[in-house]
Amino acid sequence: MTTSFGPSYVRAIAPYIAGKPISEVAREFGLDEANIVKLASNENPLGMPESAKRAMAQAASELGRYPDANAFELKAALSERYGVPSDWITLGNGSNDILEIAAHAFVEKGQSIIYAQYSFAVYALATQGLGARAIVVPAVKYGHDLDAMLAAITGDTRLIFVANPNNPTGTFIEGSKLEAFLDKVPRNVAVVLDEAYTEYLPAEKRYDSIEWVRRYPNLLVSRTFSKAFGLAGLRVGFGIAQPELTDLLNRLRQPFNVNTLAQAAAIAALNDKAFLEKSAALNAQGYRRLTEAFEKLGLEYVPSDGNFVLVRVGNDDAAGNRVNTELLKQGVIVRPVGNYGLPQWLRVTIGLPEENEAFIAALEKTLATA
Ligand SMILES: Cc1ncc(COP(=O)(O)O)c(C=O)c1O
Repeated sequence: MTTSFGPSYVRAIAPYIAGKPISEVAREFGLDEANIVKLASNENPLGMPESAKRAMAQAASELGRYPDANAFELKAALSERYGVPSDWITLGNGSNDILEIAAHAFVEKGQSIIYAQYSFAVYALATQGLGARAIVVPAVKYGHDLDAMLAAITGDTRLIFVANPNNPTGTFIEGSKLEAFLDKVPRNVAVVLDEAYTEYLPAEKRYDSIEWVRRYPNLLVSRTFSKAFGLAGLRVGFGIAQPELTDLLNRLRQPFNVNTLAQAAAIAALNDKAFLEKSAALNAQGYRRLTEAFEKLGLEYVPSDGNFVLVRVGNDDAAGNRVNTELLKQGVIVRPVGNYGLPQWLRVTIGLPEENEAFIAALEKTLATA
């Protein structure tokens, strides 16, 4: 008898590989947790904003009750910040939830979804999870090739995922190019513009994607509180789209997908401009330091607009895992990206200055003895 529970397209899914937790590395390598540096999951090295901690402590007394299913106050705060009505906003358990819900809301089994090679792993998972067909468009210089993505649209394409900046490569598409792309996408094809890292963009690279949502009824912009806002563990993300798409998303969303503490903390973080500015400044400073070290070591890296950098640590396909293991032994956790088809590379999240130094020292030591 064969064990074949579930649809074949679900059995074919390779599970998402998350960054290794500090406790696991400590156990595995016999290290003290306090000396381990984790630069593996694009988290905010500053941790949670104090304002969000205070808001959570206050909300804790409400935990005997279910959360506000419609998250009235958080949606009101988002509505004010982004200048869209509340019924254009969908909340998610992280923006990961928004990406999954969008795939289920817009696409039927057997239809196709387009995304770029080396783009965020969840696009492939969401596509496979519903038995849709993936059209993976080859990257150019590790980034999206929007013209090729347009040319890849077929009669059964219902969704295109675009990440800007992209993870794991950090590549950025200029606003004018995205706008020209949106102009050409047929109106029966939804576009999810995943802007998980948008708050890190310098002023000169910013563009107004919310204004595009007003113009394009097939556009869903997805954002998260996990990165620059510092709330990765609470799981809050949101999507902004016109009511026709938003209504579909809300039909599929679990009613209580954002918990009470997360709602309270997100409102506080949204209003904490000082924390956001500090996060972006720290990130820019760390980026300069890491890339300067890569240049000194003669390592190729992909210029990044996220809170991480993709760096090539060798020319053979075992290099990423080999260097990663050596870094783990020294208590530095980064992310090997062989599962993205990038076995010679590592993705390193930009940390606090001392964390960046620990990573650089461990990398120098590893490469010197390789
Ligand atoms: C491009 C991109 N989109 C979405 C996410 C999902 O993040 P979250 O579910 O924490 O909002 C990530 C997380 O790393 C990401 O890199």
